[in-house]
Amino acid sequence: MSYLEKNYYQITEFSNFRKTFWMKNILITYQSRTGITKKYAEEIAAYLKTKIPGTTVLSVKECNNELISKADLILLGCWTNGLMIFLQHPDKVWKNFAKGLPSVKDKKVGLFATYKLATGSMFKKMKVHLSAKTSDIAVELKSKRGNLSDNDKSLLDQIID
Ligand SMILES: Cc1cc2nc3c(=O)[nH]c(=O)nc-3n(C[C@H](O)[C@H](O)[C@H](O)COP(=O)(O)O)c2cc1C
Repeated sequence: MSYLEKNYYQITEFSNFRKTFWMKNILITYQSRTGITKKYAEEIAAYLKTKIPGTTVLSVKECNNELISKADLILLGCWTNGLMIFLQHPDKVWKNFAKGLPSVKDKKVGLFATYKLATGSMFKKMKVHLSAKTSDIAVELKSKRGNLSDNDKSLLDQIID
């Protein structure tokens, strides 16, 4: 191994160690009707798990406040409901889930959504429903088919760094 390779290896190892030290638990929750948002949530989880082993993915129905309280980063996802090009909003199940959430002001929070044509007002509406729980949203990810893009990966890298 060359001097440069060795240095690069050590820096990468240190960076991974630091991440694991400050961010132990990531919780990804989703509301999905036909499976696309579930797929996206699982792709996000599979990617994050390679960096933070304590990554869990669950539907909003499976999620509970104990799991939320243990998480350092929470990613909340829903499918886009609306009139295709306007009035987009999360569905009722997700809104009820958001209503029942405890305060998450001590955590990093991100949002994700799947859609067919446009997310439009989706993220804005998700934030309105979360406004009593946090006002600080670290990332917004979106996908048409539930595939994790390279851009998504780089945004995820930024929030766990
Ligand atoms: C009633 C209904 C309303 C929808 N409204 C929109 C919309 O306003 N904009 C959009 O881009 N997609 C809209 N979609 C498409 C879904 O958001 C999209 O197919 C999503 O990926 C489905 O996720 P799921 O498989 O997790 O349920 C709508 C779908 C349904 C069933």
